[in-house]
Amino acid sequence: MKRVEKVFAETSTVKTIFLSKDEEISAATPGQFLMVWIPGVDEIPMSISSKTPPGITFRKVGEATDALFKLKEGDLLGVRGPLGKGFRLEGKRILVVGGGVGVAPLFPLVEDASREGVEVHVIIGARTGGALVFAERMARLSSGLVVLTEDGSVGFRGMAGDFAEKLIREKSYDQIYACGPEGMLLKVFQVAEEVGVGVQIALERYMKCGIGICGSCGLGQYLVCKDGPIFDGNMLRRVLDEFGVFRRDSYGCKEKVER
Ligand SMILES: Cc1cc2nc3c(=O)[nH]c(=O)nc-3n(C[C@H](O)[C@H](O)[C@H](O)COP(=O)(O)OP(=O)(O)OC[C@H]3O[C@@H](n4cnc5c(N)ncnc54)[C@H](O)[C@@H]3O)c2cc1C
Ligand code: FES
Repeated sequence: MKRVEKVFAETSTVKTIFLSKDEEISAATPGQFLMVWIPGVDEIPMSISSKTPPGITFRKVGEATDALFKLKEGDLLGVRGPLGKGFRLEGKRILVVGGGVGVAPLFPLVEDASREGVEVHVIIGARTGGALVFAERMARLSSGLVVLTEDGSVGFRGMAGDFAEKLIREKSYDQIYACGPEGMLLKVFQVAEEVGVGVQIALERYMKCGIGICGSCGLGQYLVCKDGPIFDGNMLRRVLDEFGVFRRDSYGCKEKVER
């Protein structure tokens, strides 16, 4: 079990929890995730948003994330991981695109890239200014940050995916990285494919075991927990009938993905 060392409110519905020291998490590849067990409630997948100290950043959407939201310093959490395959840092000039709480798992990637002298351009999108996360942290480490909100309350009015399309077409990047609503991810993938630039995208599917046994996170020929959650263009081209179209719920039934 890990001790909650610090709780930080990012917005009214998003928090980051920092946990006690863990050498394996400190050595994780950006994009990897943890299975987080909230005793008496559930075990759910959460991306690593901070490696040292270990941290997860989550939006309150249901029972388990509500229970996480109520945790205080000194409470205990079960943690399995780091799990899955993370991002590969490729090239000297990259574009990182995050929507909503999807920005958080991209932060360790931006930290690594900045440490290695890679030029990192970042686009962050949210519904409204009050829902923006990690903007200041990203601004400190990136070579250029663009913030967009759907209501125009902070930054430019618009969608992160549309701005990403403009930059991908106008500038020359070695690799594009994205995490957020699946409609935005599909758009980023399609533009990157058209322009012919490499892309790595973080996907979510329903997870139970997190280690490739139960089959609940299937995406075409892949298991998201084991083969992903980071998918490159070659993998995504093989699952175009599912990516951006549907996912399976806890009963294995198809549901439309969030756009
Ligand atoms: C690899 C991965 C990394 C993730 N990282 C983050 C993160 O960093 N921050 C964050 O806020 N959320 C993250 N999520 C989503 C998070 O796991 C769900 O929001 C959470 O499980 C919801 O649980 P709940 O009981 O609060 O809500 P519920 O009411 O149970 O569910 C709300 C919605 O969350 C999704 N969900 C529920 N249970 C699971 C599950 N076991 N596996 C996958 N999706 C589920 C479903 O779409 C469901 O409709 C990640 C998901 C995956 C697969
Ligand atoms: S969650 Fe069980 S196989 Fe992926």
